[in-house]
Order: sequence, then C-alpha cells, then structure tokens
Amino acid sequence: MDISASIMCGRVGALAEEGRLLAEAGVDSIHVDIMDGHFVPNLLFGPEIVRALNDATDVPLHAHLMVTSPGSYVEPCADAGTDVFMFHIEAEPFPLRLMERVANAGMTPGIAVNPATPLDFLRHLSAPYVLVMSVEPGFAGQKWIASGLDRIAEVRSLVSDDVIIGVDGNVSPEKAALARDAGASLFVCGTSSVFRPQVDYRTTVADMRSTLGAIA
Ligand code: DX5
Ligand code: ZN
Repeated sequence: MDISASIMCGRVGALAEEGRLLAEAGVDSIHVDIMDGHFVPNLLFGPEIVRALNDATDVPLHAHLMVTSPGSYVEPCADAGTDVFMFHIEAEPFPLRLMERVANAGMTPGIAVNPATPLDFLRHLSAPYVLVMSVEPGFAGQKWIASGLDRIAEVRSLVSDDVIIGVDGNVSPEKAALARDAGASLFVCGTSSVFRPQVDYRTTVADMRSTLGAIA
C-alpha cells in the first residue's frame, strides 16, 4: 500500500520542511501536483519543486502532470529527481510514445484519467501506474465523485495485476479502504486524510496505515 502525501496540501511556504516531516511520519511517497493553468484552472508547482523535495528527502517523488503538454516536462522532471511521472491521457495524443520517453529518461510512467473520461483506452495500452481521479483535478479540498469506486474496479478489470492503480481526490481513510477493496494500492492523501488541521503527520499517516492494514 502506497500512502502518497499530496504536498500541495501542506505549508507551501515551507515545502522542504514539510517533505522532511512527511518522510519522518512514514509516507511511502510524496505526490507533487504540477499544474500549468491551462489543463486545469490553477497554476501551481513545477519541476523545481520536485528538486527541492528531492534535496530534502529520500522518499519516492510522484509527479502528477496536470498540463496540456506533458512531453515538455519529461527532461526537467527527470533532471529534478522524479521517480514516477503521471500524465493525463486527456492531454496526450501519443501516450505510447510519451511513456517510452518517460522510461528512457529514467522515470516510471503512469497515466492519470479524469472522472468523465471513458476507460476503454486501457484495452490498447499498459502503464505501470494508472491514477484514477475521484475529483475533477486542479484543487485540493473537493468532494469525492460517486463513480470513483466503480471506475477503480473497472480499471482493475482492464489491466494486468502488476499495474498499480492509484486514486486521487478527497481520499479519506474510509474511502481509501473502499478503494483498496476495489483494487487500488496507491492512495493520494490530501486534506481529508494526512493534512488535517492541528493533527501531526505521524498521527494522520498512522491512522491511514492502520485503516488500510499493514498488508503490502
Ligand atoms: C487535485 C490533486 C490532488 C489534491 C488532493 O487536482 O491532484 O492531489 O491535492 O487533495 P484532496 O485530498 O484534498 O482532494
Ligand atoms: Zn494529484
């Protein structure tokens, strides 16, 4: 089970410190939302934020590319120390070619998919990671879209067992347990789990871990 802390939900003015605290709290990875203000109506982190976190921590860094031209970010993200590069299928006409470029750059490719995007593209390609959006991307603190669990189960039915299915958006511990049962094993944790006001990360990460169970 990969508990992946969505760093955009942390103290943006103290990201390196947040990364260290999250690593000490036992997260399995840190999820970095890269937004270009075009694919999503929000402008947020870039590859240099990944570099800053890479300098501050040793945990794996997952970049979630919410950008219209994900191919432009392959080399900058690889150079910054990104481990997993997840781009949106909606933004990429040539996903097979892009996944090859990502792998050749030394990162593991993943494909993110928005809540209303049909999943049958998964009959025609395989990616090491598939990130199922349970909110429309761009902002933290949104509400879970009801189709999330069914879509995770549908992805599970379409891909091989070695594909890691992630879920991203309003993933509370309760929702994470349901998502696990539907086939997910990567949980992007934001304001409804790890980043809760006045609760330290050791506690919130331990809560999520105990809800999910220690079974890998
Ligand atoms: C939303 C991002 C998520 C977000 C999760 O576009 O992809 O990673 O930060 O935050 P919550 O868990 O609050 O929805
Ligand atoms: Zn994300």
